[in-house]
Amino acid sequence: VIEKGLRPQKLDQYIGQEKAKNNLKIFIEAAKTRNEPLDHVLLYGPPGLGKTTLSTIIANEMGVNIKVTSGPAIEKPGEMAAILNNLSENDILFIDEIHRLNRQVEEVLYPAMEDYSIDIMIGKGQAARSIRLDLPKFTLIGATTRAGLLTAPLRDRFGVINKLEFYNISELKKIIIRSADILGVEIDDKGAEEMARRSRGTPRLANRLLKRVRDFAQVKYDGVITEDVANTALNLLEVDKLGLDRGDRSILDTIISKFAGGPVGLDTLAAALGEDSGTLEDVYEPYLIQNGLIQRTPRGRIATPTAYEHLGIPYEQ
Ligand code: ADE
Repeated sequence: VIEKGLRPQKLDQYIGQEKAKNNLKIFIEAAKTRNEPLDHVLLYGPPGLGKTTLSTIIANEMGVNIKVTSGPAIEKPGEMAAILNNLSENDILFIDEIHRLNRQVEEVLYPAMEDYSIDIMIGKGQAARSIRLDLPKFTLIGATTRAGLLTAPLRDRFGVINKLEFYNISELKKIIIRSADILGVEIDDKGAEEMARRSRGTPRLANRLLKRVRDFAQVKYDGVITEDVANTALNLLEVDKLGLDRGDRSILDTIISKFAGGPVGLDTLAAALGEDSGTLEDVYEPYLIQNGLIQRTPRGRIATPTAYEHLGIPYEQ
């Protein structure tokens, strides 16, 4: 059985992220009318919200090729130079985890982004000189979960900067219903709603859970995902009513049990969890903060009464 991809291919199939979508629509149309490449685009936000999908869609809408790579995959300036030199006119270069480019590799990008050229050093010592090599015009799309880690010179060279936001329940529900249709799974309205609630605002998670709940519906029930089937399956998968997984709950539990509910500094909390503090801040915290479970205060993170209630721990002030 050929499973059609769940990723939308065109902007009008892409659900949610209205702000980013509306901006991009205009910039894409303008660039196409002028017969120019789109200006460089930076997409940032928590993982799983559609940065790669949106980049593929931009390429489809522009009618150009997309070359996909990632920050840690490019180790040497020469490798970056080769990638850039091999692009065709107006192509898109997508660099995922762009905050992980090393400094020398990143410096190759500056003149490339600014005037489609690279400086190559030839010779050594007294005889060393640099020659300028012209590149095809291209669009760089950079994606990162850690926008704060980008250097100013890199960030300043992006003409379009879009932050991707968590999806609301109604958007996730539409995505789940669309994906179920593509997968050939039957799901009713209440089933889709329950799955949407528990998808942590994240389409990647929604689609992953849909596949697992489908298995469950198929083996234990009659194949239809109802509210009851969704509830039972998601409980077994340890995804709770707010979409939190074990990792999320352990953050809340650590603040409450080890630090008396806080305030606890980010670094202290990260050390207690055995997690990198930047990852904690940019990857795990945003959803917890948006849902009112954690607050950032000048003295550190605190667990809110909602967090206590969610974990079933009495809140005493
Ligand atoms: N699948 C994953 N993300 C999606 C989105 N934003 N819209 C539609 N389908 C998706």
